[in-house]
Parts: sequence; C-alpha cells; structure tokens
Amino acid sequence: MSGKPLLVTCGLPYTNGPCHIGHLRTYVPADFYVRYLRRSGEEVVFVCGSDNHGTPIVISAEQEGSTPRALSERYHQHFFETFRRMKVVFDRFGMTDDPMNHETTRSMVQRLIENGHVYAKTISQSYCPDCERFLPDRYVEGICPHCGAVARGDECDQGCGQHLEPGEIKDAVCKVCGGKAEYREQEHYFFRLSAFRDFLLDYLPNLRGTATARNYALGWVKELLHDWCITRTLDWGVKFPGSDDLVVYVWVDAPIGYVSFTKEWAEAAGADWKDYWCDETGVTHFIGGDIIYHHCIFWPALLKGAGYGLPDAVVASGMVTIEGKKFSKSRGYVVWTNDDYLDQGLPADYLRYYLLSYTNHTKELDFSWKVYGERVNNEIVGTLGNFIYRTMYFAEKEFSGVPDLPVGPAILEEIERSLSGIDALMRDYDFKNAVDSMMALASFGNAYIQNNAPWKLIKEDRARAEQVIADCLQIVKALALIFEPLMPESMQRAWTMLGYDDDIAGHPIAEATAPVGARPLAKPSPLFVKIEEAQVKDLEKVLNVRVDEANAAAAKKKSTVSIEEFANLEIRTARVVSAEPIKGSKKLYKLVVDLGDEKRQVVSGIAQFYTPDELVGKDVAMIANLAPAKIFGVESRGMILAAGDEASLLVPLRPVSPGTPVR
Ligand code: 2FM
Ligand code: ZN
Repeated sequence: MSGKPLLVTCGLPYTNGPCHIGHLRTYVPADFYVRYLRRSGEEVVFVCGSDNHGTPIVISAEQEGSTPRALSERYHQHFFETFRRMKVVFDRFGMTDDPMNHETTRSMVQRLIENGHVYAKTISQSYCPDCERFLPDRYVEGICPHCGAVARGDECDQGCGQHLEPGEIKDAVCKVCGGKAEYREQEHYFFRLSAFRDFLLDYLPNLRGTATARNYALGWVKELLHDWCITRTLDWGVKFPGSDDLVVYVWVDAPIGYVSFTKEWAEAAGADWKDYWCDETGVTHFIGGDIIYHHCIFWPALLKGAGYGLPDAVVASGMVTIEGKKFSKSRGYVVWTNDDYLDQGLPADYLRYYLLSYTNHTKELDFSWKVYGERVNNEIVGTLGNFIYRTMYFAEKEFSGVPDLPVGPAILEEIERSLSGIDALMRDYDFKNAVDSMMALASFGNAYIQNNAPWKLIKEDRARAEQVIADCLQIVKALALIFEPLMPESMQRAWTMLGYDDDIAGHPIAEATAPVGARPLAKPSPLFVKIEEAQVKDLEKVLNVRVDEANAAAAKKKSTVSIEEFANLEIRTARVVSAEPIKGSKKLYKLVVDLGDEKRQVVSGIAQFYTPDELVGKDVAMIANLAPAKIFGVESRGMILAAGDEASLLVPLRPVSPGTPVR
C-alpha cells in the first residue's frame, strides 16, 4: 500500500437496464474487500455511481419516449437500492450527469488541452441521410475493418474485440432507421494516447491488483496504441469546452466520475478530495475484465496528462456465464438480482458467498442454481451454520451461557494462524482462497467439537466438557468476525446470539482472540436455512422459461419474405478454384470461384474450419448478387453459404455444373 488514504471504486453501471448477477461479480468482491480492510483497522473510502452518458442510453430513452436524464434517474435509484439489498454500501453513489461531474470533466479536459495532449482533426464519420444526423458509436452497425465480423460502431463485439474509432466501421447501417449510412467529414478532437506509450510501459509493471489487468494492458501497449477521438456529435453528455455541438466521449467523463464522487463525498464529510487523487494515490479500481483497456491504459494516461495522481491498483473480475451458457439478455441467459433472486426471499449473504467462493476472482464464474443449492447446503449450512449452532445450543443447554474459563492456547494459535493466512490472501486479491480459509476454520471447529464430543464427555467429566465449549465459543466469535465482511447480515445475528448487543461492524477482526467474556446466552436458533431441491427446480424453471420465451421471440422477429423478394436473391452453385489466407486474419479466406460464365473473388469466414486443399474443387452454394464489399481490404463479390457455428458448407448431393441456380 502506498501510505496514502485508501479509496476503492467500482466500475459504474450504465443506467439503461436492471442489475443482474454479472454486475455483482464486481460490486460484491469490492464490498467484501472494503469491509475486510476496515475491520483490519484501515480507513477506506468506497465510492461508485451510475454511468449516465453514451449512445445506448439515448437510444433506450428514445425508444421508451422518455429523456436520457429521466431514464438515468430511474435506473440510478434502482442500482442504489439493489446494491443496498445486496449489502454493498458505498460512501457515495453519484451520477455522472450531475453538475459536479460536468464541472470536473470540463476542467480536466481543459487541462489536457492546455498541456498539449488534445488535437483537432477532420474525420469522415458515419451519417444517416434519412435521420439527418451523425451516427456516433452504437447508432451504427457494420463490418469491422480489422477482422470482417459484424460490429458495433465503437467496438468489434463479436469478432476481434478491438475498439473502433468513429468512421472506422465499414458498410455502416443506421441503427435507428436501418438505412445505409454515408460518410461525412466533421472536425473532432483527439487525445494523444500514442504519446503515453513510454509512460505506460513504465507505470504498468508496478500497477498492483490482479495480474490479469496488468498483463493484458501491457500486451496492448507493446502492440499498438492509437490516439482516441474524445468527442461525439450528440446533445447528451458533457459539453466539450469551446464547442456547442460536441460532447466528450462517455469513456472520458465516466472514469472522471470517480474523482467527482470523491469530491461529493469529501464535501459532505469535511475531507479533502486532493488527498485521494493528487500525487501518489491509494486508489484501487474494481472492474469487469472487459474494461481493462479503459482503466489501465486510457484512464492513467488521462490522469497523467491532466496532472493527477495515478491508480495504485486495478482488480479485474472474470466474466459470468449462466448455467454454462454465455451471458445474454437477448437469449434469456440472465439472472436478475431483484426479480430472480432477492424477491424470491433468497438471502444476499448466500449469493455473496457463492460469488466469492466459486472460483478465482479473475476466472470465469458459472452461475448454476444446482451448484448454488449444493454449496449453500454443504458449506454455509452444513459446515459454518452447523458448527455455530451445535456450539451455541450445547453452551446454552448445559451451561446457560459462556463459561468463565480461559481458552486453550492451541485454539488461540489456530485462530491466529488462520487470520494471518487470510490476511495475506486478501491483500493479494485472492478472495476465493481467503474464503476457503475462512471456511477451513469452521471445519476445524466442527472437527474439534466432533472429536471431543462434549455431549458424551459431560457424563464423565463436566469440567472438560465445559472447556471444550469455551474453546468452541471462541472459534464462533472468530468466525463471526472473519465472516462479517462476506456475510454481514448473518454474522450480525451470530454476534447477537453470542450475547453482544452492539454492531459487529464496529469490532476489528483482531478481537477474534480476545475472550468472549462470561455471559448468559439465550436459546439459539439456526443461523441458516437449507435450499430445498424443489426450490432449486423452481428457480431453474424460471430461467428455462425465459430462455424459451427469448427463442420464441427471436423466431417471431425473423419476418417472412415474399416470393418476389426471394426471387431477387441469386443463389448459385460455385466451384472453388483457389483458396488462400488473408494476411492478419485467422478467420478469412480469399476464394476464387467459378460460376460457369465468370470467375469471382469472394471473402469467406471459413478459414478456421477448412484447409485450402479441402475446398479447392468443391461445389458450394453462394449468393451471387450481393452488393460488393471490401472485407479486410479485400474485395468480396458474393457470400458462401454455410450452416452452424462450424461453418458446414452446403454442397449439392448430385453433380451439377458450376453456376447452376439454386431454387
Ligand atoms: O462498461 C460499463 O458498464 C461502464 N459503464 C463502466 C464505466 S466504469 C468507469 F470508467 F466509469
Ligand atoms: Zn473485429
């Protein structure tokens, strides 16, 4: 740690859709980490907020006939409340569209301009002649210039994953009216990111946090670093200084939100935000693995360019899959935090445990109701809950309270050993192993009570049985304190059952070895309830129904075509004459095919599935009257038809001559 006051932030959720389990993969571990540090005696400020700008929010607001501000306020409130229900509690949860962030963003951008890091350049940008507007980012869809996949205006989301600059996308289509976009020239402003290469090469190796974030970012810096266009032709956003029709790109004002929210918190708390953001900082960003580039490259360069301190650590989480399937709202593979989880009466603490203990924080996490049920029942209920309940039950029944006895040194040593192991893991962001070590202390307690069997011992040696129970109660206290950052609500109940009438969060973990203190105990009740198999089935059913409905909706959406429209398609067989890879693309081949009356060049994304030799001489089906396009800089005049994810080619069953029409 850098010695500076600690500030932890979480990636800001966009305000155009509800909270789902994918979101929680970042927020729950961050909250766990913050609580842990606080219980270890550190002062930590924890800020987050909602991300209100950018085109998807404008489009969603247009679709529902509302305004981006009204939509943002609604979802802002939604996230704020959902996080609270999940026991994720920020010191400040702001909005990037609030005045503080407008002001901070404009002043930081102004500093970047003054420091010579911004330049103007006329670029050719997608424009929709029918809608009469420029088409920034998600307003446009087309073909990725790098890999030929279908891509969004700002990102090749289904292909190579590269960030796309305005105007880079090929064959652009307007998302609003579906019309073909044109390219028009307009002056925009660029951040000279390429000039920060040496700085980043120096900074990144020392960036703390997960190795995934550091290494991924270093890979990009070593490969390529393009300047970023930091303005957009939009009304919604932070106005670019000195311009009426440009706003800054959402990825500029969103991270600046971290600074603005710190200022808002500091104003209310009587603190100085500069202590957190100037010179050497103690800033740790928790983010999803998909936005490492923005946080480890773009953001530090912006901060450096504007003269601020740099993040000390970036902790990146892996992606979430649902029942083994890629997370997808449109295909129904989603678990909504409120509707599907909290509103079903399921405890926040169980989900917090699942999210943190399932696998290493940087790896892919699969959410499965069955595994969820098993882990809750075996670990939370069977190990932790069982040990606490057995101990408390026996203490109350046989001794009416906590015995007035010193705890055995071996028990105190075991607790101390466990705490120091957990501490090292937490500080290494190894949350999964930290949680496993916590559970190992509960297993130790279970083995201790089982081996000593105080229920038998009491018949022969009451004093020894009492000692065993005093030892176990000490372990219960340690467990309550160490598990509090993970399962705050349940551990408060455990604390109260131990006879304490205050807030467990006010106690440092170090008190785990301090005597429990002789006190009467009330009759305990089990801390946790099992998840029944029938409930798991019901929860699985909700997901299955959603997936079926999404499939049905997708099928319905595919509208029918008339015979005339079909007749307009010229589908013909084509004999492959040659096939060769396209430099720089793993997926594409340049094919020359024989159509009987002519030879054609076609680019086809089948390179991963066939060698050139397998293709030459084959008759395949092709759409022959597709408008010509350039893919990866290579002209393509037609499209080869193939079925499924592995591009199974459609070949004629009986011999046909090249160019035969398909009807
Ligand atoms: O990817 C996202 O969901 C963004 N809204 C995260 C922004 S984080 C930060 F930079 F503000
Ligand atoms: Zn691409």
